[in-house]
Amino acid sequence: MKDYSKYGIMTKATHAGQGVDEDTGAIRRSIIMANSFKLPDDLSQLDWSGSVGNVYTRNGAPNERWLEEKVKVLHEAEDCVVLASGVAALHALFFTVLKSGDHAIISDNCYAAVYRQFTELFPDKFGIEGTLVDTSDPQNIKDAVRPNTKLVHIETPGNPSLKITDIQAAADIAHEAGAILTVDNTFASPIDQLPLKYGADVVVESLTKYINGSGDSLGGAVVGPKELLDKLRYEAQVNVGGVISPFAAWLILRGAATLPLRMKYVNDSSQKIAEWLEGYPGTRFVWYPGLPSTPNHEVAKKQMTGYGGVISFGIKGTVQQHFDFVAKLKLITSAVSLGHDETLILYLSPEDERNYLYPEPHKEGFYRFAIGLEDTEDIIEDLRQAFEQVGL
Ligand SMILES: Cc1ncc(COP(=O)(O)O)c(C=O)c1O
Repeated sequence: MKDYSKYGIMTKATHAGQGVDEDTGAIRRSIIMANSFKLPDDLSQLDWSGSVGNVYTRNGAPNERWLEEKVKVLHEAEDCVVLASGVAALHALFFTVLKSGDHAIISDNCYAAVYRQFTELFPDKFGIEGTLVDTSDPQNIKDAVRPNTKLVHIETPGNPSLKITDIQAAADIAHEAGAILTVDNTFASPIDQLPLKYGADVVVESLTKYINGSGDSLGGAVVGPKELLDKLRYEAQVNVGGVISPFAAWLILRGAATLPLRMKYVNDSSQKIAEWLEGYPGTRFVWYPGLPSTPNHEVAKKQMTGYGGVISFGIKGTVQQHFDFVAKLKLITSAVSLGHDETLILYLSPEDERNYLYPEPHKEGFYRFAIGLEDTEDIIEDLRQAFEQVGL
């Protein structure tokens, strides 16, 4: 692998993982859909459960490895494993690090599947305990530490409220307790935040979101030290099998080349939209890491180089008005996910299963609003006309 450390982020995103095909001279990567590869004549040295070389696609394959190289370079990390989805990556990580009898501390505002893994699946099936805490105050992490705590997992900015956690403070507490700190970096992407620089041991990205950028594939990455990721390849990739399809890896590799450019635009547009929403009389609250009024803005300023494209906000209306507001939007689409080219909005009503964990302003219901690549003014105009149509 080339040494990319002297290059800037645009060069890294363009070149890492790319190369010339030796058979054809093509300057783009091929999609290698083979599930099996020709074996060497002498099989005595072959590690059937290893991930070195091309044996069988579940063990590791060319499109997966090219994408791993790009994500690793973007995170300035030692190693990366790419899997079928962000959740597959999170599960593979937890499955590799934890065993029965262990305890983990988790951000209370974390991705829904992680919430369920630690409130239902891991405790019920494997005897692994998870404590959900408001990690935006490091003292809560400290107070939750037990002698058997092996993992602290944070999401910052947290989905869906946009709670900010201090990565360095969480890392210090985890390390003092003999645990590792893992960070879900999906809302920031490696362009806006590099958690490994702030003491995190491992980073997870849902590649489905900003890194792909077009909303047309699923993927997830675990980024961190080679020793741990070799264990993860063996235990959770080869033997559990949540591998990425070569086509999805190819799409995400292609999308990732424009990641820095897209994030630059999305950061700028989201800041303007968040400021407009904050100044609009029909909103009840707006949280965006780039707004000085958002809790822990100073922490975000310290550890982020851009504030991402997700805003959470509530309007001064009934639950029905919240639904009506979405129905009146003309450009903005009601859908889950984020990091697409188009702007998406998702209403989380007070009935949401995790409502009891949300910060005070979010408990009455709110929107998770994921800004896309449209003109900023067009998005603001769409919001304005929807507000007017619901009488706000
Ligand atoms: C913060 C975060 N982590 C993980 C995931 C899961 O990613 P995937 O849908 O690729 O499994 C998501 C999906 O929305 C997410 O927002």
